[in-house]
Amino acid sequence: MLDLTGKNAFVTGIANNRSIAWGIAQQLHKAGANIGVNYLPDEKGRFKKKVTELVEPLNPSIIVPCDVQDDELLDSMFATIEEKWGKIDILVHCLAFADREDLTGDFSATSRAGFAKALDISSYSLNCLAVRAKPLMKEGGSIVTLSYLGGVKVIPNYNVMGVAKSALEMSVRYLAAELGQDNIRVNAISAGPIRTLASSAVGGILDMIRHVEETAPLRRTVTQTEVGNTAAFLCSDLASGITGQVIYVDSGYEIMGM
Ligand SMILES: NC(=O)c1ccc[n+]([C@@H]2O[C@H](COP(=O)([O-])OP(=O)(O)OC[C@H]3O[C@@H](n4cnc5c(N)ncnc54)[C@H](O)[C@@H]3O)[C@@H](O)[C@H]2O)c1
Repeated sequence: MLDLTGKNAFVTGIANNRSIAWGIAQQLHKAGANIGVNYLPDEKGRFKKKVTELVEPLNPSIIVPCDVQDDELLDSMFATIEEKWGKIDILVHCLAFADREDLTGDFSATSRAGFAKALDISSYSLNCLAVRAKPLMKEGGSIVTLSYLGGVKVIPNYNVMGVAKSALEMSVRYLAAELGQDNIRVNAISAGPIRTLASSAVGGILDMIRHVEETAPLRRTVTQTEVGNTAAFLCSDLASGITGQVIYVDSGYEIMGM
């Protein structure tokens, strides 16, 4: 029933084989979607090489550089998508960034520049992608982003990223309300803690995972594949009535009070 055959799915945020975006791209591909991806450009071209090699088994039709803080790169990424595909059905926003020093210690110590950077890359970027995807979602579409519990509850060290996730979740609701008339659905997956490049910057991530393993109803944390499966569901017709939601894929941890 979960069939994405003929759908064009663009997945942002793959850095390596631990990336949640990689789990999502694999599951979308398994469901039949054509895959396009970006990589974050860096001076030595490390991400380009790593991402290109990693995604090869998915036969991606698009691999382009994009830094979401760079409007020109954003424009050229979507120009490539239009040129190669003509239309886009699925857009996955799976990226975030905050300076390491802002992911530990006192939240009140967050600098103005650090706050602006975290919110720009981790929250405003959803807007940057959605506004460019909208004219290409000619037959409607599904946009999925990734959030974390730290956007609604205080999690030690998550700090400015919690504020960014809060802004991201509210952006999901505003975008869902605006784009619904074009049959574009916008949802977030709030994932449990997973060891990745980004999460390793959060102070005490291993303690967070251990705590979830002891406390969550399923007594474990989740995998990239489980998040990918939910993303595939949200991007499919099975979820045609769901928009503006934050779906927890966290082994049930969110329901626990103690
Ligand atoms: N790992 C977890 O425990 C967890 C839990 C819940 C939500 N998330 C969210 O999942 C998403 C993916 O993170 P991940 O854990 O897979 O880590 P990751 O490090 O694999 O992915 C983060 C991605 O963000 C990209 N990125 C950073 N700055 C960028 C910029 N300026 N422009 C374009 N791309 C940029 C990186 O290149 C990388 O691909 C993030 O939104 C993260 O907050 C992660």
